[in-house]
Amino acid sequence: MFSKAISVLITGVNRGLGLEMVRQMVEIQKPPPRLLFACCRDPDGATHLQALKKEHPDIIKIIHLDAADPTSIKQAAAQVGSILGTSGLNLIINNAAVAVHQSLFDSTPEDMHRSFNTNTIGPMLVIQEFIPFLRAAAKDCGSPGLSCCKAAVINISTFCSSNELTKESYKEFAVMPYRVSKAALNMLSVCASLELQKHEILCAMLHPGWVRTDMGGKDGELSADESVEGMLHVMSSMTEQHCGTLQDWRGQTVPW
Ligand SMILES: NC(=O)c1ccc[n+]([C@@H]2O[C@H](COP(=O)([O-])OP(=O)(O)OC[C@H]3O[C@@H](n4cnc5c(N)ncnc54)[C@H](OP(=O)(O)O)[C@@H]3O)[C@@H](O)[C@H]2O)c1
Repeated sequence: MFSKAISVLITGVNRGLGLEMVRQMVEIQKPPPRLLFACCRDPDGATHLQALKKEHPDIIKIIHLDAADPTSIKQAAAQVGSILGTSGLNLIINNAAVAVHQSLFDSTPEDMHRSFNTNTIGPMLVIQEFIPFLRAAAKDCGSPGLSCCKAAVINISTFCSSNELTKESYKEFAVMPYRVSKAALNMLSVCASLELQKHEILCAMLHPGWVRTDMGGKDGELSADESVEGMLHVMSSMTEQHCGTLQDWRGQTVPW
């Protein structure tokens, strides 16, 4: 796990993999994060998250953030900045996403807009708005190399974004707008990894596996617990060699 108490921000944490990331980070990880900014679009309705916050009030800060709303992302950055003060933010996990279940002939421009707003444009705006805090963390660190303990952005992608794997998986997962928006997220991540490297910030992607959540459905191959345990392990061992890469929860490379 992470070698020091880091500050982390995760989007979409009121349910599914995001909620499990928060749980494992505060309840299992040693040391736990110094600060965990738990972002969701309906904090009052996030009952499981509120319960975790009650147990760990000094670590968990619940922040309103709608990944499809640029104003909300800006406001979230201002709120996080006021809590951080002069200290930096080590790790951002862009996890929030929507999976629009439509094939080519069912898909509307609205389906594509919704998918891109949340899955692609949201992560881009999060990087843009929160970069000053990542840069502060990289500067504070003082040691060479890149890692998630220093300063990093991890974008949660999917095997559905892979051109190579689409032939064999499209029949089962005909989620065209989702696939296109996540393939665009991959390119965004590669471009970001090249631009962020000069600021000593790592940017990479992770595929969580096919997981039993609202999005993955009940037939998924993994529990959220197993997936998140794997992803946290992979994140904790990332270095500069992983900039712009897409690995799965076991650390295996997903083909483009
Ligand atoms: N489950 C899988 O099998 C699987 C496979 C590959 C990749 N993934 C990826 O893993 C990540 C998490 O997926 P999951 O399985 O946990 O999905 P999930 O159970 O459907 O949860 C999605 C989360 O994203 C949030 N969200 C959606 N739109 C948002 C917005 N505009 N602003 C803020 N939050 C928003 C949801 O909040 P609300 O409750 O407010 O909607 C929810 O917390 C996603 O990036 C997904 O693409 C999942």
